[in-house]
Amino acid sequence: MEKKNRILVFGGTGYIGKNIVKASVSLGHPTLVYTRPLNSQTCPSKTQLCNDFNSMGVTLVQGELEHDQILKVIKQVDIVICVLAYPQVMEQLKIIDAIKVAGNIKRFLPSDFGVEEDRINPLPPFQAFLDKKRNIRREIEAAGIPYTFVSANCFGAYFVNYLLRPYEKRDKIAVYGNGESKAVLNYEEDIAMYTIKVANDPRTCNRIVIYRPSKNIISQNELISLWEQKCGQNFRKDFVTEEEIVKQSETLPHPENIPVSILHSVFVRGDLMAFEIGEEDLEASELYPDYNYTSIHQLLDIFLVNPPAPASAAFQ
Ligand SMILES: NC(=O)c1ccc[n+]([C@@H]2O[C@H](COP(=O)([O-])OP(=O)(O)OC[C@H]3O[C@@H](n4cnc5c(N)ncnc54)[C@H](OP(=O)(O)O)[C@@H]3O)[C@@H](O)[C@H]2O)c1
Repeated sequence: MEKKNRILVFGGTGYIGKNIVKASVSLGHPTLVYTRPLNSQTCPSKTQLCNDFNSMGVTLVQGELEHDQILKVIKQVDIVICVLAYPQVMEQLKIIDAIKVAGNIKRFLPSDFGVEEDRINPLPPFQAFLDKKRNIRREIEAAGIPYTFVSANCFGAYFVNYLLRPYEKRDKIAVYGNGESKAVLNYEEDIAMYTIKVANDPRTCNRIVIYRPSKNIISQNELISLWEQKCGQNFRKDFVTEEEIVKQSETLPHPENIPVSILHSVFVRGDLMAFEIGEEDLEASELYPDYNYTSIHQLLDIFLVNPPAPASAAFQ
């Protein structure tokens, strides 16, 4: 029988991380999660998640991001996937150092999972945010570590929650810009499955993979119409002009200036769809045509029946 790669996830208890851990287990990979030590201060939901991981057969390794500790774990695995939170992005330098010393890692996926950061030029606060992720990419390339860089585009449930606010009783929905720019909203479980697939795929070594399935490309106006059809309610649109958004990006203090700059990039300028998928590019749904991903239609149906909880991160 084919020997499955052992996968280590940093940030596996996080918003996207828990999906990635579950996908790794479901595809039969021995899976390890490196997590900060659990103690009496740890929130009950994280403790519960760690118990769930234990019962799924996941190996939890508790420790700080300290060289000797992470080196020891990295030496035991084949693939490292990092989904640390954005403020911890530069901490990945420690993981890169440990991977260099260990010398056994077949693939490293750093904490990208958003826009294709090497191809867009957003407003300064988002630019500064992306600069850190770009620096990490350049360090990985310089170190000669086999990598895959993932552009997952929008986390679908995360942005449906943010844009449509299905968990609130309301009759109006904010629209950023004129609502016409196309974005890409991918369901988190699919992002996780694609990620485990690309991490193991020889075709994706030292390549960028963009998650842009055709049924998940949608504008805000189209998303609102679809939601209106599904829930049988009409909403008033509260347009937030580009000028207002740019002004906010210039006047809000850091880090609150980052989410508005992301909204500008994704929903006003349409940066996710501003470049063609070329011959050099790898697109996830084309790489795995047999994988039955969740369309926007199906994602909204999930919201009608059993709405996924909003993320407790920057966008609320
Ligand atoms: N495309 C999109 O729509 C989108 C949306 C959100 C995020 N993202 C990107 O996805 C990646 C992962 O983001 P996420 O939102 O899933 O992350 P998250 O849930 O905020 O955090 C992930 C994990 O980071 C770990 N961590 C380590 N040190 C930490 C510290 N000092 N404080 C807080 N957490 C710490 C925690 O794991 P332990 O507690 O186990 O140590 C946490 O569970 C990032 O690169 C982010 O930019 C993309």
